[in-house]
Amino acid sequence: MQARRSAQWYAGDDRNSYIHRAWMRRGLPADAFDGRPHIAIANTASDLTPCNAHLDEVARSVADGIHRAGGIPMNLPVVSLGETQVRPTAMLWRNMAAMAIEEMLRANPIDAVVLLGGCDKTIPALLMGAASVDLPAVVVPGGPMLTGTFRGVPLGCGTDVWKLSEEVRAGTLSAAEFQRSESSMIRSKGHCNTMGTASTMGLLAEVLGMTLPGIAGTPAPDSRLLEAAHATGVLAVELADTGRRPSTVLSRGSFLNAIVALAALGGSTNAVVHLLAIAGRLGVPLTQDDFDRTGAGVPLLVDLQPAGRFLMDDLYRAGGLHAVLAEVRDLLDPAALTVTGRPLVEQLGTPLVYDREVIRPRADPLKPHAGIAVLRGNLAPDGAVIKPAAASPHLLRHRGPAVVFDSVEDLHARLDDPDLEVTADSVLILRGCGPRGYPGMPEVSNMPLPAKLLAEGVRDMVRICDGRMSGTAYGTVVLHVTPEAAAGGPLGKVRTGDMIVLDVEARRLDVDIPDAELAAREPAPEMVKAFAAPARGWERLYVDTVGQADTGADCDFLLGGSGDQVSRESH
Ligand code: FES
Ligand code: MG
Repeated sequence: MQARRSAQWYAGDDRNSYIHRAWMRRGLPADAFDGRPHIAIANTASDLTPCNAHLDEVARSVADGIHRAGGIPMNLPVVSLGETQVRPTAMLWRNMAAMAIEEMLRANPIDAVVLLGGCDKTIPALLMGAASVDLPAVVVPGGPMLTGTFRGVPLGCGTDVWKLSEEVRAGTLSAAEFQRSESSMIRSKGHCNTMGTASTMGLLAEVLGMTLPGIAGTPAPDSRLLEAAHATGVLAVELADTGRRPSTVLSRGSFLNAIVALAALGGSTNAVVHLLAIAGRLGVPLTQDDFDRTGAGVPLLVDLQPAGRFLMDDLYRAGGLHAVLAEVRDLLDPAALTVTGRPLVEQLGTPLVYDREVIRPRADPLKPHAGIAVLRGNLAPDGAVIKPAAASPHLLRHRGPAVVFDSVEDLHARLDDPDLEVTADSVLILRGCGPRGYPGMPEVSNMPLPAKLLAEGVRDMVRICDGRMSGTAYGTVVLHVTPEAAAGGPLGKVRTGDMIVLDVEARRLDVDIPDAELAAREPAPEMVKAFAAPARGWERLYVDTVGQADTGADCDFLLGGSGDQVSRESH
């Protein structure tokens, strides 16, 4: 076995190794520094990330497992991002969190890392950082919360907020009843229980091969999560010994497996940007088109909100992730490895399905084609995405006049104006919401519908935006339009009244005006003045360096990796 990385700090009897050991002793015996692996527990627990607040408890079980296997656990709190709290959008800070995680893993005397995440951006940031430093790493997904109920009916986090608030605006639910549902929604510790971004990325962490098999989707309060956390601690010591790294585990096949799973699970559109960003850190070739090519023909097998009815606790009860993957086993790359050193496919076994309402058989899917459709056209030269399973079938082919909003504030100011010229056939366009324009690419694409149309019973319209959409949302929403309006994309040139043509089957998104006329048009002044021109700080660095959605919206200077070596001593 090679000398341990931590031995670069601790081995020897010179002044520097003395300093490294002495400050770490604080009760640790001398043999803690005799060459046994030091394992960081990169912990995104925070009271301000309520979905991850229980991770300190998970970290204790991981630490027990590390001790048991002869390693030394080191709790390493890292930047955390609470999706519902952080302004202007948690996505603005994903790359910053990934950078901080990467740098602290590299800077410290550790041999491997256990990554604890949950809420939407935390697992992507952890995987991006771990990929760039490429130390042996394994994820423990924090798990979804239990199902809350209100008036006897289950409440899906996020999805039911959108539904109930539309009911209030439509006048079919009182504001008081809406308020009463508030304390029922978040029943327990854990992240959102719909198939939103947190659930999706937790499950995909396992499909990518980065967790102990069978752990993803375990509800946060379930004691089996702590048992698996303990076993992950044991595995982390093995990883430090074998040197199995993200670059060993995460192949192109792993990402294609994740795309298949994303479709079968009905996962979040945000997984597109996150998987592209993680692949970009590893130099694994992956494009937006891979999502369409590999995922679009995969049937939707899981009946979970927002595409369906049930919630994450039901998926776990029904047999969990492995039962879903077993249904699409033939579509998975048999060679793609996991942190155990064995291929994912080999570890699936023959799982039973305990509830066929929740996990449908391949022969009788919820929808025959799931996944992500990538659209192109004169409105989105570099692509845009739509999740057909969350859309209304009658709108997948649509032609209608644009109603354009230049910002979220503009949208809120005018949407419910009784004089707004809008019909159910109109196409709502919101721009200036891309990575650079907002900045941070917020989840605002699922625009609320105009109140007067809601009152008429309209429940879906074609909506187009250069931002993202919450993984818990639904509707005929075209997202991630690239290039974004603030980066000179044609979306910034559309005018209210232009005819928009959407044809999902043909994978087209166009504005029906001649190319020459579109090219000659000036972009809307709001797009030119650059909505966000931050003077300093992270926002400045972000706006200057962020890439477009079609490549994962990572910062250009963070692409790739720098490995785990540090060139110089600290004193
Ligand atoms: Fe944290 Fe949904 S708000 S997972
Ligand atoms: Mg979200």
